[in-house]
Amino acid sequence: MKILVTGGAGYVGSTCTAVLCEQGHDVTVVDNLSTGSREAVAEKARFIEGDAGEMADEILSSGDFDGVIHFAARSLVGESEEVPDQYWRDNLGTTLKILNAMHAHDVKNLVFSSTAATYGEPETIPITEDAPTNPTNAYGATKLSIDYAIASYARAYGLGATSLRYFNVAGAYGSVGENRRIETHLIPLVLQVALGHRDKILIFGDDWDTPDGTCIRDYIHIRDLADAHLLALETNKPGVHRIFNLGSGEGYSVKEVIEACRRHTGHPIPAEVAPRRAGDPAKLVASSEKIKKELGWNPTRTDIDTIVKDAWNFTKNLGDRAYSAGQR
Ligand code: UFG
Repeated sequence: MKILVTGGAGYVGSTCTAVLCEQGHDVTVVDNLSTGSREAVAEKARFIEGDAGEMADEILSSGDFDGVIHFAARSLVGESEEVPDQYWRDNLGTTLKILNAMHAHDVKNLVFSSTAATYGEPETIPITEDAPTNPTNAYGATKLSIDYAIASYARAYGLGATSLRYFNVAGAYGSVGENRRIETHLIPLVLQVALGHRDKILIFGDDWDTPDGTCIRDYIHIRDLADAHLLALETNKPGVHRIFNLGSGEGYSVKEVIEACRRHTGHPIPAEVAPRRAGDPAKLVASSEKIKKELGWNPTRTDIDTIVKDAWNFTKNLGDRAYSAGQR
């Protein structure tokens, strides 16, 4: 298939691009490099530097694209509450431009990168796709609003689309992993301590209503996540919008993640309890039964040790390329 990948220089987008190229697809990446990096894009892919929303019409006007995987977005929960205007513009605004370009050029196959943040504080665990959606931050709200837009384009214009709601994506695949200029995620931060780029990891609260008092999350390996995008792309049907959760179904606490990192790095990783972080729910665990049943998705890297091992192999080989080098 000939596929346009927006945001294909970011962590998730570049992994999916690598897997698409490995499987023989013809991939064009558009990315403005605001958070992604050019080196992360697979060599076989065609790369266009620019704004996905601004360029979608021109790119798709060649008329021979089979589908779009749309990753390009802002994705920091805390930041979205500080500058919501930028989140609505770059998430909803950009997606509407892409949807309109797809409609104009008769491209009817879309996979959309969404998030568990669309659900907000869950009423029941594990979270299924029919759980109430009450996002607690602007990031989740922008992603949820896009689902409404996609659903209406599916009904009116025959778009075939899948929204994939990710839980905590982690791990690495080949030469692609987490190496952000601004890092807020638990596993890469803990590994920065093991690299010597940070003195300690802060645990945001140990008085949560969980067995060890720290928050529980569902970590999904980036390679398993990439497989789900390919399955979605291959099975989209015109006029149908599907929503699937993507997690491993296993919950690990912050302390358990830090322990796994100690095991794999051999570093003591000093940790210090800090106040709770605003907006954190105590426990988020996905039910991914729907995508397993309907698409035959079969994640094979679901234990925290595999995820941490792959993340560490990637992180320790970064050397000078680690954005965290020099931070303490
Ligand atoms: N945490 C710490 N210390 C840190 C960083 C994180 O204790 O220095 C804790 C957080 O409080 C949280 C857990 O580690 O309990 C995981 O935090 P992350 O920042 O790695 O991830 P989040 O669960 O906040 O969010 C991620 C994505 C969201 C997505 C969500 C869905 O960033 O986009 O998973 O599960 F919506």
